[in-house]
Amino acid sequence: MTNDQLQIFLDIATEAALAAGTVLQSYLGNLKNIQEKGRPGDLVTEADKASEKAILEVLNRHLPQHGILTEESGSLGNTTGPYLWAIDPLDGTTNFAHQYPFFSASIGLLIDGIPAVGAIFDPFHNELFRAAKGLGATRNRQPINVSQTSDLAKSLLVTGFAYDRRETSDNNYAEFCHLTHLTQGVRRSGAASIDLAHIACGRLDGYWERGLQPWDVAAGVILIQEAGGKVSAYDGNKFDIHSGRILATNGHLHNSLSQALLETPPLNSWQ
Ligand code: IPD
Ligand code: CA
Ligand code: CA
Repeated sequence: MTNDQLQIFLDIATEAALAAGTVLQSYLGNLKNIQEKGRPGDLVTEADKASEKAILEVLNRHLPQHGILTEESGSLGNTTGPYLWAIDPLDGTTNFAHQYPFFSASIGLLIDGIPAVGAIFDPFHNELFRAAKGLGATRNRQPINVSQTSDLAKSLLVTGFAYDRRETSDNNYAEFCHLTHLTQGVRRSGAASIDLAHIACGRLDGYWERGLQPWDVAAGVILIQEAGGKVSAYDGNKFDIHSGRILATNGHLHNSLSQALLETPPLNSWQ
């Protein structure tokens, strides 16, 4: 894969993310149809669907031969080839429904299963995050880098809690308590793509979460890697986008955060 080819894919991802952002802004504060998809709190709105339609229009026009995996439509086109677009048309739907301004359109391209291109657009703050393998990471087209924080005690982290949190004891509550005590704080923004973008540009130092889907993280993973950060499984082993789990940091505190996660005491020890 040449840099020129990656740049073309990045520009197509950007066109799609910006088109989605325009759609999202038009629905913000104007939602008429908010439904639960299954689990309590797992919402879908007409904005999710309209944003997805705008993204698919761009991808199908430029790259009809590529496979697509979207949150609202599932698998589309040739999903057995080397190219798979993993798309979240509205990451942070709950925030969006409440007009809490942390949401994005997140568009990633996996090449042979590995995140290679990503565009995340936050239309409320007009922030466009982009990256492609070997081409660097940018925010509004200016290069970005992860933070330098190497001491967990001086770090600001972020995490999230999946929609199955009421059904499993593996719901990240124990990890949240443990890391809250070890750091300057743990935030919960409600949009995985924004969490990853904020690590890539140095606002946050580390992130972990379980219960994620490929479309939540595909774009953010390449963004962090190209901004100088590190992405892995909780234990530091190779990241698997289908595992549902991610540990993403500035790289400097990766090992100490990994160790802290693995050493998390049971929740009842906090009560
Ligand atoms: C959710 C957000 C949230 C994360 C959930 C995701 P959605 O995506 O990224 O931060 O904690 O696991 O499902 O449903 O708003 O697209
Ligand atoms: Ca999502
Ligand atoms: Ca979504």
